[in-house]
Amino acid sequence: MDVKEAIEKRRAFRSLEPVKITKELIHDLAECAQITASCFNNQPWQYIFVHEPKVLKQMQEALSQGNEWAHEASMIIVVLGKKDDDCIIYDRIYYRYDIGMATEAMILRATELGLVAHPIAGYSPKKTRKILSIPENIDVITLVIVGKKSDKINPDLSDKQIEAEKKRPKRKKIGEFVHFNKYGDKK
Ligand SMILES: Cc1cc2nc3c(=O)[nH]c(=O)nc-3n(C[C@H](O)[C@H](O)[C@H](O)COP(=O)(O)O)c2cc1C
Repeated sequence: MDVKEAIEKRRAFRSLEPVKITKELIHDLAECAQITASCFNNQPWQYIFVHEPKVLKQMQEALSQGNEWAHEASMIIVVLGKKDDDCIIYDRIYYRYDIGMATEAMILRATELGLVAHPIAGYSPKKTRKILSIPENIDVITLVIVGKKSDKINPDLSDKQIEAEKKRPKRKKIGEFVHFNKYGDKK
């Protein structure tokens, strides 16, 4: 799969079926984060790969309403980072940018491997911290729900979520976010 194809294939699907999680898979995904660019090569990311069924079950408690579909996760990648572990250049704080890039690299690799890797913001950082013994000074930035796409629609999904399984949610037009040569120039 080439990069453009992986970008196009990646979708935040919510109807998941189980997939076997191996140490090799986790290592493969971690390697993709490892070689991602970062400010001053600071590599501020930390990840917890949660795959033990007992811990996954505990993590269900941390999910927000509307994310019940994520109970079917075969793995949850908990994305962590600390502001001080990366560049701070006046008001420019880079850790979330760099961690986002590393996480997208993992998501695209997971896509290439035929998996769904769906980031979510709908969770309780406080509960996640408690369940996984994450120190207070480390931010819980996102959870990435990993599984295999199921052809059966998850019965927990809302109408809007069912719609999104079938068709990629609408995007802004390119002209709404692209400028040429100076801000506001659209031609
Ligand atoms: C930071 C972030 C947080 C998100 N949070 C949730 C979430 O809590 N629950 C959910 O179902 N989807 C969540 N999504 C998925 C988006 O809704 C989805 O990416 C968007 O609707 C576009 O769909 P697509 O990724 O399939 O193209 C999140 C995505 C990102 C990047």
